[in-house]
Order: sequence, then C-alpha cells, then structure tokens
Amino acid sequence: MAQDSVTVIDNRTGRSYEIPIVDGTVRAMDFRQIKVSSDDFGLMVYDPAFTNTASCRSSITYIDGERGILEYRGYPIDQLAEHSTFLEAAYLVIYGELPTRAQLDQWTRNITYHTYVHENIKRFMAGYNYDAHPMGILVGTTAALSTFYPDAKDVDDPQSREMQTWRLLAKMPTIAAYAFRHSHGLPYVYPDNDLSYTGNFLSMLWKMSEPQYKPNPVLEHALDVLFILHADHEQNCSANAMRSVGSSRPDPYSATAAATAALYGPLHGGANEAVIRMLLQIGDKKNVPEFIRHVKAGERKLMGFGHRIYKSYDPRAKIIKRTAYEVFEIAGRNPLIDVALELERAALEDEYFIERKLYPNVDFYSGIIYQALGFSMEMFPVLFAIARTAGWLAQWREMITDPEQKIARPRQVYTGLRRRDFVPIEERGKVAVA
Ligand code: SDX
Repeated sequence: MAQDSVTVIDNRTGRSYEIPIVDGTVRAMDFRQIKVSSDDFGLMVYDPAFTNTASCRSSITYIDGERGILEYRGYPIDQLAEHSTFLEAAYLVIYGELPTRAQLDQWTRNITYHTYVHENIKRFMAGYNYDAHPMGILVGTTAALSTFYPDAKDVDDPQSREMQTWRLLAKMPTIAAYAFRHSHGLPYVYPDNDLSYTGNFLSMLWKMSEPQYKPNPVLEHALDVLFILHADHEQNCSANAMRSVGSSRPDPYSATAAATAALYGPLHGGANEAVIRMLLQIGDKKNVPEFIRHVKAGERKLMGFGHRIYKSYDPRAKIIKRTAYEVFEIAGRNPLIDVALELERAALEDEYFIERKLYPNVDFYSGIIYQALGFSMEMFPVLFAIARTAGWLAQWREMITDPEQKIARPRQVYTGLRRRDFVPIEERGKVAVA
C-alpha cells in the first residue's frame, strides 16, 4: 500500500516534494515550500468560495452528499426527527451526547430561565419601521444583546460560554416573536415558562387575550421537528460566518448576528422565503413547463433546489415533505404543494437538473409548512435562524477550544495595478488609466 502522501513535481525547477495526506486532505501550508527561488513566497492554494477546502476539524455533523446522509454526532437525522425534541437535539449538537433525563431537565430549566429579554429591547425594537423585515430586526437585536451582557466578552471562560449558550438559545425565539408582533402592531407577549420551547414560541407569536395560549400539539410537534432538521449542517455559509467572526474573539452575540446576516441571503436561509415567492409567481402547475424553460435558459433559479454538498435528495426535504401532510390535516392543505410537487416531478425527470445533480433541498418544502402554520414569508428565515442557533453555538464552542484554530485571515491573488506615483487632481483624466 503506497504511503499516504502525494508526490508533487514542480516542472519549473524539476524538484519533487512529498506532501502527506491526512484524513483525505493535504495541508495548504505544505505547498509553501514549493518555490522557484529563495525569495519566492511559495505556492498558495486558490479556492474561491471554499468549494474544496476544509477549514476545520469538526465532530458535530456528518454529511454524505452523494448518499444523502445527515447525522448529528452520529445519530441519523430521521431517527432524531422521529424520537427527539429540539431542545434534546440542541443538547446533542452542542455537548456531543444525548442527555440523560436529569441532564435534559437541567438543560431545559437553564434555557427556560433565560427566555426573557431586557425591557430596553422593546424600546430598541420600536425604532424599526412597522414593515421592517424580521430578519433585519433579528440581526440588529442579536448584536444589541452583546451590549447587555459585557461578561460575554470572556470567551475563554467555560462558564461564560455556558451562560451565553443558554441565553442565546433562550432569547432568539423571544426576539423573533417580538419582531413578528412589532411588524403586526401587536403587543409583545412575555414568555410562558410553563410551555415547551416550541410551545412558548408559538404563544409569544399568537397569544391574544386568552389567559394562557394552548398550542395545538400536532402543530407544536411539526414545528419542533422542523427545528430539529435545521439545527446544524456542518460548515454552511452561516456556520462559516460564526467561526470566522468568532475567530477574532468578540462576544458570541456579535458572532451570532453575523451568522444570522449570512443566513438572511436568498442563496442560504432566505431560500425558503424565495421558494414561496417563486411558487406564488408560477401560480398553477400548468405554468411549470414554462418556468422550467426559464430556469434552463439561465434566466431563473429553481429556488429550493441544488446544494453545495448534497448531490442527491436532501434527507431533510424528505422528512419535511412528510411532515407537511401532518400539518395540512390540522391547518388545511396549502395549495402551493401541488405546484411544488409538479415542479419536483418535472425537474427530477429533466436532463438539465439530472446532469447537475440538482435535487430538492431543505428549503423546498419548509416554506409550504410554515405558510400552512400561519407564518408570513418574512418569518421563514427567522424560524431557520432560531433552530440554527444551536448549530452556530456548537460550531463556535468547537472553534474557540480548538488548539489548531486562530484568527481567520485568508490570502488573495492580487490582480490590481502595482506601484504608481500620485497624480495631482488637475492632471487627472488627461491620461487614459490602464
Ligand atoms: C441552504 O450549505 C448548506 O449546508 C446550506 C443549508 C444549511 O442547512 O445550512 O443546507 C441550507 O442554504 C440550502 C440551499 C438553499 N438555497 C437555494 O435553494 C437557492 C438555490 N440554489 C442555488 O443557488 C445553489 O444550488 C446553491 C447555492 C444552493 C449551491 O450552489 P453551488 O454549490 O455554488 O452550485 P453552483 O451555483 O456552482 O451550480 C452548479 C450548476 C450551475 O450550472 P452551470 O453554471 O454549471 O451551467 O447548477 C446550476 C448552476 O447554474 N444550479 C441551478 C441551481 N442551483 C445550481 N440552476 C437552477 N436552479 C438552481 N437552484
């Protein structure tokens, strides 16, 4: 068996180099020794958007994109969706093991205890326009939380990391619900600590004049399953933002605000909102062939389809599709499901999508459920952010305690102009700039 290494021959010098292979990777720094002269900086590796670059070693989430496998700490996502709750799955993602009954009870108490936010958050939130997008409110308010907890700056103190973990998991639903109520001109509803994590969130969203909100157990469970499915997804765009911002050691609220901002994008967590807008625009399944033509012409993207890692059906999409029918039983059938099913059928049979390995991802069906649950489209990425806070915290904690990690600072290939002398303003515009 050949040694775990690659031999690189630099054809510029004829010299060869032995580069070790570890865990299926070669270290980028091992290429810096490849030079043409002693003052040569050495080779870098160029990988825009990190399509083939491992930025860290992680034991949180395992994905096999070809086989459509997703595991949190080794537990298959379909088993967690069937048997677990979001708080239990969040514990698993963060601490690495399923909690004992005593651990889960203590974890639930710790989070329940921190569901309230400082009253000043209300005044802060009042500054947003009534029609402010709730993701914009979530980004800003999450960052503002860092000003209420100066102790959070001590990221090297394990107890401080615990406290901020509880606070963030507990307060994201509260802020999200406040943002929703703000945009509907409704009074804020305080957390009801007698309810489950998801039940309390529904209460803060929907409670009106009744003494206590009673969540529908089927809808409460469906949303909890959706939260489990969205808890983590290894080094996705927003997890990378959490790690990269977190690597300069700010407090975790600032890093979480950056991760939330990354998730806001329509190519990432904003896709579930974009899918519904797309389905509404298509309107009826008879219009699907024309829409597919626009996609294949490169004029439109089939939102909710495709994935950097999954080159097969996203396992989460299968579970979400199944869960949709449980919600429809209670909340009524969302007619957009018919357009979505026809879009999926047409795409999965079409060479354009087959050769590009484009399948439904987590966002393709989630919006249909959220809409059936009564959420406005703008809230869809907010729901994603609540659940992914567990994964962001797990990734952040792993990065902070990883001795191999330090401040993230990529290199570049410089393509600009080199040294030229300053030009007085009266002489500018006379000579064409190269
Ligand atoms: C999430 O990373 C994660 O894990 C994310 C996530 C998580 O849990 O954190 O899974 C959540 O963000 C899911 C993805 C949600 N986004 C969307 O549904 C938006 C639509 N999808 C695309 O924008 C795209 O598929 C991405 C962004 C998801 C992945 O993009 P890649 O890996 O950079 O792929 P690519 O853009 O290089 O596409 C390869 C080819 C291209 O065609 P060619 O130029 O080779 O001819 O596939 C085409 C693309 O044009 N393509 C699509 C398409 N996605 C890719 N064509 C039409 N519709 C699409 N949706």
